[in-house]
Amino acid sequence: MRRKFVAGNWKMHGNLVDNDALLTGILAGIGEVRAEVAVCVPFPYLAQAKAKLAGSKVAWGAQNLSQHAKGAYTGEVSALMLNDFECKYVIVGHSERRALYGESDAIVAEKYAAAQTAGLVPILCVGETLEEREAGITEQVVGRQLDAVLNKSGVISFANAVIAYEPVWAIGTGKTATPEQAQAVHAFIRAKIRALDAEVAEHLVIQYGGSVKASNAAELFAQPDIDGGLIGGASLNAEEFLAICRAA
Ligand code: 13P
Repeated sequence: MRRKFVAGNWKMHGNLVDNDALLTGILAGIGEVRAEVAVCVPFPYLAQAKAKLAGSKVAWGAQNLSQHAKGAYTGEVSALMLNDFECKYVIVGHSERRALYGESDAIVAEKYAAAQTAGLVPILCVGETLEEREAGITEQVVGRQLDAVLNKSGVISFANAVIAYEPVWAIGTGKTATPEQAQAVHAFIRAKIRALDAEVAEHLVIQYGGSVKASNAAELFAQPDIDGGLIGGASLNAEEFLAICRAA
């Protein structure tokens, strides 16, 4: 059976005081959680996450990285810098990065490769906009996003990666995809990987993201191809996040 994996994406939220309380709350309840759990925090709080979570059941990671190893890239953070903070995971290609910061499929593929080269596990985000869903091109869009990475890093790279299917229309909107809608796209993603490597597809963790809450997590995670979640807003509250983790 595949492992279940729930990750919090804090986005641009938090401060030293609130983070401490949130992480303390998560650690207090993590004993009852069977799933693997991680938090992806803003860069300035990686040291805090490491200090607080080292030796616990909760892993930590970043929300972005540069595709470059080093150089004159003001404001950017490299994979090796993330290694200094012992990150396990890094989110790559989040729809907010794609939409607000111009990250193309090609850039996302470079970032994914840069993460893996440094030994980080990329959480590759894919997903369609509402317009694309209504135009009936969801699979085309998700397929294209996956192809960019497959062409650059190969299917075997997914032995050390996680995919998060996050329909853009469900992110931060309170509009969750129905379990059936999500499962259909998850099955499509797994079938696409299976066509290239059945073994990799079988073990690949595919998270769902987009308005996951304690109240809808269990029915989403019960779907055969949904292996956990990438949680935004609800990951900022320890009790809510733990309830989601327990549902996985
Ligand atoms: P919400 O859970 O706030 O909808 O965000 C989902 C997301 O973007 C996680 O990466």
